[in-house]
Amino acid sequence: MRVQRAAVIGAGAMGSGIACVLSQCGIEVLLKDVEQAFVDKGLGNIKRMYDSRVKKGTLSEAEAANHLALVKGTTSYDDFKGVDFVIEAAFEEISVKLDIFKTIDAICPSKTIFATNTSALSVSEIASATSRPDKVVGMHFFNPAQFMKLVEVIPGVKTSDETVKFATELCHAMQKTPVKVQECPGFLVNRLLFTYMNEALYVLQEGLATPEEIDNQVVAWGLPMGPLALFDLTGLDVCAHVNKFLYAQYGARFQPAPLLSKMVEAGCLGQKSGAGFFMHDKGVPVKGEAKKINPKLAELIAAVNKENPSANTNAGAPKKTFDVHRVILPMFNEGVYAIQEGVIDPADVDVAMQNGCGFKRGLMTIADEKGLDWVLAELNSYLYENAKTPNERFRPSWLISKLVGAKVNDFSGLYKKPVAIG
Ligand SMILES: NC(=O)c1ccc[n+]([C@@H]2O[C@H](COP(=O)([O-])OP(=O)(O)OC[C@H]3O[C@@H](n4cnc5c(N)ncnc54)[C@H](O)[C@@H]3O)[C@@H](O)[C@H]2O)c1
Repeated sequence: MRVQRAAVIGAGAMGSGIACVLSQCGIEVLLKDVEQAFVDKGLGNIKRMYDSRVKKGTLSEAEAANHLALVKGTTSYDDFKGVDFVIEAAFEEISVKLDIFKTIDAICPSKTIFATNTSALSVSEIASATSRPDKVVGMHFFNPAQFMKLVEVIPGVKTSDETVKFATELCHAMQKTPVKVQECPGFLVNRLLFTYMNEALYVLQEGLATPEEIDNQVVAWGLPMGPLALFDLTGLDVCAHVNKFLYAQYGARFQPAPLLSKMVEAGCLGQKSGAGFFMHDKGVPVKGEAKKINPKLAELIAAVNKENPSANTNAGAPKKTFDVHRVILPMFNEGVYAIQEGVIDPADVDVAMQNGCGFKRGLMTIADEKGLDWVLAELNSYLYENAKTPNERFRPSWLISKLVGAKVNDFSGLYKKPVAIG
């Protein structure tokens, strides 16, 4: 089915970006929010997105005006009777989403496909608010939606193959890169990212490196930004919430570093509060100047180590240096856990991380470069670093152990997609 008319519910950061992308490929878009002021803000954002493209010379003024004219703001569901596709990007609260899906189910034609941009809620539960769970799918865009290529396409338990195909084709029409991810907490990208961000906090707590040293090594490894800068950008309070959620779902591999909640309690929330791991001037780091570390950080780390002596696995051990693989390995390991659970096609892990987070190289290539036997040995060395208590954040997935046992050392080679016959 070709989409001619779509609706986006929620005119915030994500909704306005998604509406912009839809209008750009010639689709009429209704942008709905609860109040006219929010609708106007969203429409203003879209205009700015198009204006900046005109300024950069990637779009003519006439093209921008034509695209913009396709987006109509609304505070009512009146025109929803004529839409082929609805994507919801309202608040991340299950009661809000259930209410929205129940409402649109009663108004939209039975053929209309519904998508949710939820970051962490259950697509299956959201779909259950409708009489058409087969036509409800997760489409998780990345921020800013008008730039980031990746869309995680997440079927709920009752989503039909046709709906997944529809969502995938729509992504292609929007010039996005869809990756199918089975429903699981954090889906793929956030699930992997949080293991690595959390580990960076442990490195900091253990006094192995400064925030700048950690970030610089990670960037040199091939990520667009370091984990501590990413914490500051995303908001430490938001990250603490996600960390707790993933820990509740997956257990010990996601044991949150106590430093994060300590920082949040101290009001250090990142760019939005003016201070996180680094200091921020009016929300953004001062360009051209060395990043200034939050002067409160040392005191907060000392307090955390005093309150949680067991959280510091390095306590009493000879002083080590920071090896960037310490933060990359948990992310790789989590990727293999996702593969062994059937959450993702092995060939798609790198596609997702490169298009969703801007990784300059593939995460799974680490196995090709270093060998899976090296990965397993490293994970085990961190797991058993402290003789008394294994560090469960590094517990290797059984798939890695199985492959190494079978003397398979090249992960991507083993899982290359079969060549189509005929
Ligand atoms: N911000 C991100 O980085 C990001 C990335 C991927 C997915 N998401 C998800 O996208 C969704 C939206 O996030 P956001 O960052 O754009 O939030 P936002 O706060 O910027 O915007 C949400 C908008 O939804 C509106 N809204 C709330 N209830 C509504 C309702 N009943 N009907 C219509 N509009 C309603 C609000 O008024 C607000 O304008 C959330 O589910 C979030 O988890 C966010």
